[in-house]
Amino acid sequence: MIIQMQLIDGKAVAEQVKQEIAEQVATMMENGMKRPHLAAILVGHDGGSETYVAAKVKACAVCGFKSTLIRFESDVTEKELLQKIAELNNDPDVDGFIVQLPLPKHINEQHIIEAIDYRKDVDGFHPINVGRMSIGLPCFVSATPYGIMELLRRYNIETRGKKCVVLGRSNIVGKPMAMLLMQKSNPGNCTVTVCHSNTVNIKEECRQADIIIAALGQPGFVTADMVKPGAVVIDVGTTRIPDETKKSGFRLSGDVKFDEVAPLCSYITPVPGGVGPMTICSLMKNTLLAGQKAIYR
Ligand code: GUN
Repeated sequence: MIIQMQLIDGKAVAEQVKQEIAEQVATMMENGMKRPHLAAILVGHDGGSETYVAAKVKACAVCGFKSTLIRFESDVTEKELLQKIAELNNDPDVDGFIVQLPLPKHINEQHIIEAIDYRKDVDGFHPINVGRMSIGLPCFVSATPYGIMELLRRYNIETRGKKCVVLGRSNIVGKPMAMLLMQKSNPGNCTVTVCHSNTVNIKEECRQADIIIAALGQPGFVTADMVKPGAVVIDVGTTRIPDETKKSGFRLSGDVKFDEVAPLCSYITPVPGGVGPMTICSLMKNTLLAGQKAIYR
């Protein structure tokens, strides 16, 4: 069987979404509304977090948002962070804010997440947003699964009635992804199986899937023998692999062995340039909604 594989260009879609947001911001300005404002808290100097936060600040400029970067050293106390969060919760100029994860070990991430006013939680990590998402109510949806839903939508990929395997059960990606794909919506209406480190017969589960979402953080985990011909494969992996030939000193590796899997797929996302850019533009979308008070007053 010869399959016409289509590469999903997340970078191009993300650029388009950001342009659409910028147009909406221009309209808001014309109508005398406040410019949407995203604040980001960055603790320490983790390479990945530095890169992601810099990309978020840059995307804000493209969208026409105001952004504020707040830095703390890695010895910041939980109390100091909670004080800053209270300040941002009460600052009417800040529409939404994020605390970049992971945080240093001595800080309880859950305390931090739950301290954020859910009406400003543009990451969609607060239990109120997670709970509302799980029962299909308006809320801020976690950026990576939101971005993947947008890719499925914009490429008109049929999801209704499809068998979908989600690899990974993280709070940020796997769990919300499974919830969104099973919802009565389009995209959605999938029959979803979530696989994780204790799943037996993971290969067989994957071979049944019309859609595979790989979000384990294990480079090259998904191999050709796990993929049904014609499947849609979405690769969420972004593991940094040391690579002296790169200026940065590393390259990004997805969870899918792209070269052997791609020829089998109807659609596949590359790494980089697939899900990654969509994650950032979903945060921008949430920030726009926060600025418009479109979800919570
Ligand atoms: N760390 C990895 N992904 C994310 C994200 O989407 N938001 C935040 N705040 N931290 C992250």
